[in-house]
Amino acid sequence: MSLLSGVSAFFGLDIGTTAVRLVELRGSYPKTLVKYAFIPIDSKIAMSDSKADQQKLAQAIRELCSQARMTTENVAVGIPSGRVFTTVVDIDRLSPSELSRSINYQADSLIPTPLAESKIDWSLLGDSPTDKAKAEILLSSVPNKFVEERLDLLESVGLNVISFEPDNLALARAMVAPGVATPQLVLDIGSKGTDLVITMNDAAHLTRAIPTGAEAIIRSAAQNLNIDDKQAEQFVFKFGLSKDKVEGQVYQAIISTIDLLTTEIEKSIKFFETRYQGQKIDRIIVTGGASAMPEFPLYIANKFGINVEIGNAWHNVSFGAARQNELLAVSNHFGVAAGLAERTE
Ligand SMILES: Nc1ncnc2c1ncn2[C@@H]1O[C@H](COP(=O)(O)OP(=O)(O)OP(=O)(O)O)[C@@H](O)[C@H]1O
Ligand SMILES: [Mg+2]
Repeated sequence: MSLLSGVSAFFGLDIGTTAVRLVELRGSYPKTLVKYAFIPIDSKIAMSDSKADQQKLAQAIRELCSQARMTTENVAVGIPSGRVFTTVVDIDRLSPSELSRSINYQADSLIPTPLAESKIDWSLLGDSPTDKAKAEILLSSVPNKFVEERLDLLESVGLNVISFEPDNLALARAMVAPGVATPQLVLDIGSKGTDLVITMNDAAHLTRAIPTGAEAIIRSAAQNLNIDDKQAEQFVFKFGLSKDKVEGQVYQAIISTIDLLTTEIEKSIKFFETRYQGQKIDRIIVTGGASAMPEFPLYIANKFGINVEIGNAWHNVSFGAARQNELLAVSNHFGVAAGLAERTE
């Protein structure tokens, strides 16, 4: 859903698990940074659908917009990956209008929720790699109920929603420069989970929501080292996957949880490289709070024999050189919000 055409000013809003974040940009590619801001939230309220928690969330968003002195109410909002179903499907080549009809007709058998209760969106990726006669599309669906509740929530704080977009698509837009043809695997390791997206030729070709994130990693450190969560968090972000710090105890405590994640990454790479014969993942780009664990990028690079890069949320944004350090310090947390703000259609 997008009503961006005709809208001049808007901002991207990422309602994450541990914080709500916004980014406002202006101009055309590369857009210039106007402002960014965030407000921490209790992770319990972000996950809850209860009225009381929704009101707390509304209050946090209201505060964020007022602290950041926002001058536009137009907002492009992300949809958390846990709420979106995304799939790539091959379908008969048809004219655009017939394609639309055909997808609607077939959608019920392609998505997990009833079509009547879901909002679907799709984009044409190109020729199917497996069937010459067909085209492939990226299809996503979100329950109407979730979209309607988010709309009500944001309207209640005076915002005007101009578009909804899955978090992982926004993330890919922020992390990968336009025009990169080779496959890039982007990982956003957040608090509750990890978003994975593989892009090729400026489009997402595979997305996965993996239920392992900072919380699970910290919990395994707390349990295996017999320490409290606060201390576990400090240890995880101080020693990470380093085998020669504190005799590798932190590494030992968290590695099986980390490998829940790497197993899913491996499956996604296999799936992608099997479907797109001859294509190899060129680079893995890591971002999100938990990607700051020491030696995590190195561990991934060694595991897969693929170059790993620390993602930069501001990769496709222009800003004054004096702000470089300040912006890089928050980069891990702003990929989704920046990508939402970079939307042009
Ligand atoms: N300097 C830091 N500031 C905030 N969080 C940090 C920092 N260093 C590490 N972390 C970890 O990062 C996690 C938050 O990551 P991130 O901001 O990517 O999550 P999120 O976007 O709120 O969650 P999700 O994407 O799962 O909804 C926290 O759980 C925390 O353990
Ligand atoms: Mg996030």
